[in-house]
Amino acid sequence: MKIYIATDHAAFCIKENVKKILQDLGNEVIDLGPMDDSRVDYPDFAHKLCENVLNDLGTQGVLICGTGIGMSLAANKHKNIRAALCHDSFTAKMAREHNDANVLCFGQRVVGLGVIESICKAWSESSFEGGRHANRVKKIEL
Ligand code: RB5
Repeated sequence: MKIYIATDHAAFCIKENVKKILQDLGNEVIDLGPMDDSRVDYPDFAHKLCENVLNDLGTQGVLICGTGIGMSLAANKHKNIRAALCHDSFTAKMAREHNDANVLCFGQRVVGLGVIESICKAWSESSFEGGRHANRVKKIEL
């Protein structure tokens, strides 16, 4: 899977670790920044990442900020982006299987690297189940 990744300054410190985790799981990872830990506004990076995902069919995104909340709120403003704020492997698995989420969000100040690894693994190894979930996902868009 081709996965775009972006953070804000709060999560910049773990971006390289997360890239490595995703690559080790067999993903191609495209880094959309930031490239240093200067203060930035998370919506700028959320919007940049969503535009890339929407313009590159079949790709996914990973957005990380302090809590993951700001990134998920901004990402979900985009039509056809389903950004899921995940705190563990279960929520990551469900986000893919039931919600067909295409952007994974989590918080650097909320989860440690061990949990992040299990979140990325569950996300990468899970796919949308379709069936009864398909119509529900369709109904998300207004
Ligand atoms: C930055 O201090 C923090 O507000 C941001 O990373 C994020 O947690 C927002 O939702």
